[in-house]
Amino acid sequence: MIVVTGVTGNLGKIVINDLLERVPASELVAVARTPAKAQELADRGVEVRAGDYDDPASLEKAFAGADVLLFVSSPDITPGVRPRQHGNVVDAAKAAGVGRIVYTSAIGAQDGPGFLADHTRTEGLLRDSGLPHTLLRNTFYTESLVNPGLQENVESGELVAADAGQPVNFATIRDLALAASATLTGDGHVGAVYELRGPVWTLAELAATVGDVAGKPVAYRQVPVEELEGLPAFLYGFIATGLFAEPSDDLEKLLGRPATSLREAVSAVLR
Ligand SMILES: NC(=O)c1ccc[n+]([C@@H]2O[C@H](COP(=O)([O-])OP(=O)(O)OC[C@H]3O[C@@H](n4cnc5c(N)ncnc54)[C@H](OP(=O)(O)O)[C@@H]3O)[C@@H](O)[C@H]2O)c1
Repeated sequence: MIVVTGVTGNLGKIVINDLLERVPASELVAVARTPAKAQELADRGVEVRAGDYDDPASLEKAFAGADVLLFVSSPDITPGVRPRQHGNVVDAAKAAGVGRIVYTSAIGAQDGPGFLADHTRTEGLLRDSGLPHTLLRNTFYTESLVNPGLQENVESGELVAADAGQPVNFATIRDLALAASATLTGDGHVGAVYELRGPVWTLAELAATVGDVAGKPVAYRQVPVEELEGLPAFLYGFIATGLFAEPSDDLEKLLGRPATSLREAVSAVLR
């Protein structure tokens, strides 16, 4: 039996829908903290169980009978919250006798800066648990840079980035989800650490591609990160360190095809 958490989120939803095309619904369990939000899966024959990372008892029941568990990391990056929640998940998996855990870790988790350190800690918990596991060190989502907001860059004719000239190896949520799904059913994933990264491109190439696809030039302008605020400042703060500069072919190997290209991603959002 394959048990999947985070099924109401971007990544988990794609995973469970992909599994439904390959595995009988009777062999799948969807874990949601609000089961009503997963009604569509129940309607398709998937058993939906309640499981909240803040409620250890709910998790042990939710994970019962799991040969494989997809543990989607919590989105709550409030300092201290995720380590507690992830400790609950690993403890419950151990108590429930889960056969293998597949964990959505993050790029740089071996020595993660900032909030990535939560993943470092969770990888340590998994190692210490003695449970067979598979680590998916996901890069950041392409969608954080390639999204319908690019239409504004087309209109202004400019893309402002605080990238310090550093490239990114971002991957689409769909590619990362399908790679995760592949590790839930295939053989040979016990103990594997997958560095899941897309094709490497620069922000200057993003501007050029947006211009090309839109048929209107878009200039790239580099600024210091101090000139940005909110989410862009957060994102470029990581990009400028070179965290995303290195390629890896683990993603395309799991997908069995090339990862989504920059042009494909831009074309999809500017369509
Ligand atoms: N690689 C990246 O660039 C990137 C970007 C964003 C996030 N992430 C990480 O990757 C994970 C998956 O990404 P995503 O885009 O699918 O995130 P998402 O859309 O925010 O989905 C998060 C999932 O976690 C569930 N969840 C939240 N709190 C929970 C709790 N206390 N107990 C049980 N389930 C809980 C949510 O359920 P509800 O529907 O009930 O809220 C949802 O199903 C995120 O949670 C985050 O750790 C990675």
